[in-house]
Amino acid sequence: MSKKIIIGNWKMNPLTLKEAEKLFNNVAKNVSGIKKTEIVICPPFLYLERLKKISKKINLGAQDAFWGDAGAYTGEISAEMLYNIGARYVISGHSERRALGESNTDVNKKVRASLSVGLRPVLCVGESARDENHGYFNFIKTQLEECLAGISKNSISKITIAYEPIWAISSTPNRQDATSDDSREMAIFIRKILSDKFGPEASQMRIIYGGSVNEKDAEEFLKNGGVDGLLAGRASLDAKKFVEIVKTCEILSK
Ligand code: PGA
Repeated sequence: MSKKIIIGNWKMNPLTLKEAEKLFNNVAKNVSGIKKTEIVICPPFLYLERLKKISKKINLGAQDAFWGDAGAYTGEISAEMLYNIGARYVISGHSERRALGESNTDVNKKVRASLSVGLRPVLCVGESARDENHGYFNFIKTQLEECLAGISKNSISKITIAYEPIWAISSTPNRQDATSDDSREMAIFIRKILSDKFGPEASQMRIIYGGSVNEKDAEEFLKNGGVDGLLAGRASLDAKKFVEIVKTCEILSK
């Protein structure tokens, strides 16, 4: 199994390159001793090239990649362009993009295009609410099956699955806290779906948790949430908090 992974999703922040450099530098200078944890930061596209020059330790990821190779797709950015500029990861199917209309079919095309150029997809799945009849399990199953359709066993070790219950994400109105039990239960379920679909190779895929992760609950999710890492949004905009999450992961990996 690969190293544990901590991913920061900056979303549409910060507003200037100067602030982006400052935030990135403040993380970079405090993670030089980290060896057992993979660190990924996903800034807005237009900061990637500059941030790439600052640190070799931190991998860069994009927050989306379009499925077309090149051509008449106004406003889109292809997976290959992102790879060429230095990104090595890409978030696929984030709930905030799904809310803007992205379907499982779109996400599947994006995951496949990303894999074909060597970008490692971080495929986000997550239900908007939990119902008493546990229908959310089927919802996650469908998301996984449709988003991973047609992907070969050879490439699945490159994919990380991020379980992000929408009801726990910091920007969701009236959000609720998810617990490490919620995470562990779903991680076990996801692992089962993946192994049914891909066989033993599925054990190579990382499953991580995201949804208001912070420097205080990171330890609990990493210890008892059944996951191989975390995806932090809001907490990744605070270098100190993000570094603390990375360090917590490092200590637990020893
Ligand atoms: P959050 O975001 O940590 O701010 O809840 C996580 C995400 O949406 O990826």
